[in-house]
Amino acid sequence: MPITTCVFDAYGTLFDVTAAARAAAAEPGRGALAAHWPQIARDWRLKQLEYSWLRAVAGRHVDFWQVTGDGLDWALEAAGLQDAELRERLLALYRELAPYPEVAEMLGALKAAGKATAILSNGSREMLDAAVESAGIGGLLDAVLSVDEVGIFKPADAVYDMVGARFGTAPEEVLFVSSNGWDAAAAAGYGFRTVWVNRAGAPMDRLWARPDHIVANLTSVPEFV
Ligand code: LAC
Repeated sequence: MPITTCVFDAYGTLFDVTAAARAAAAEPGRGALAAHWPQIARDWRLKQLEYSWLRAVAGRHVDFWQVTGDGLDWALEAAGLQDAELRERLLALYRELAPYPEVAEMLGALKAAGKATAILSNGSREMLDAAVESAGIGGLLDAVLSVDEVGIFKPADAVYDMVGARFGTAPEEVLFVSSNGWDAAAAAGYGFRTVWVNRAGAPMDRLWARPDHIVANLTSVPEFV
């Protein structure tokens, strides 16, 4: 069945989640952050994801903005950098994360090929709207789907179900693209065609399914449709 619809994870896939800590570390007077930002960015992301999975398993959903702040608090404390002003600055930057440089051209190529495009993300509606607006890519997306509508995080099937509910698609006509190995694997298990954007050259996650394609960045995504 031909691919009709291309669906993207947001954080880490379209938007660079390390950009907030990197940008803050480059600001004047941020010497302590400059020394620790890569570890803080890594811990922040890992805790954000870990808390999302734990909340999904425990049935204790809160929105992704809360989980993002909680993960940041853990990361700052681990680095010995508990500072309210820095916390606010990092969260403000997170609302306007830079997209990866190839995003707009890649989405434009998919639209030119007549494909529907969407974001499917754990992000809250408000976070996603802010990120899409600051990246200027709203005109290249047919839908921005937030888990807010189903009240559980990926990789719950209820989240992947949102694509068919919105577009009326069968899973096999959807190309799902994620930089998170676990998200690409779970989406493959769900029945989507999948691309794992493995920018860091990480090992394959040992889960219940494997992505169909592995790429180093988003440039080649239009070749799969
Ligand atoms: C998202 C997270 C998982 O955008 O990256 O859904």
